[in-house]
Amino acid sequence: MKNHKTLENLEITLATSYALALKTQNYHWNVVGANFKPLHELFGSQYEEISDAIDEIAERIRTLGSKVEGTFENFSKVSLIKNGDKNLNSQAMLKDLISSHEALINFMKKAIKIAQDEEDEATADMFIGRIEAHEKANWMLVSSLS
Ligand SMILES: [Fe+2]
Repeated sequence: MKNHKTLENLEITLATSYALALKTQNYHWNVVGANFKPLHELFGSQYEEISDAIDEIAERIRTLGSKVEGTFENFSKVSLIKNGDKNLNSQAMLKDLISSHEALINFMKKAIKIAQDEEDEATADMFIGRIEAHEKANWMLVSSLS
């Protein structure tokens, strides 16, 4: 298959997005401190945005003809980011989320070029859309640092 590498990059993007959604939800549940309410709400809305995207990424993999390895075992093996830590303070949670979004953005920037080389413009477009969403999420996270 000519878009072999792009399929692999979609699987990595799916697993990492899943891990980031779970980390964001973990922090939605466990954040404490003076900024509890706005951070709880911000993490909740960011979790929902990533969760919607996960479905689109998985369905793109199906559209390209591959089955989706939808298991926790596979996602944790393939993900580019580490699990969240419920005991972090709110600033450390923000920084952890920011670097996780950055890891995904940097990965997808390379994946766009590979998708274009493999003449898969639609997947390249999906990566571009996801970069825009993660950059917006990071703007809000960075702006919440004290
Ligand atoms: Fe909730």
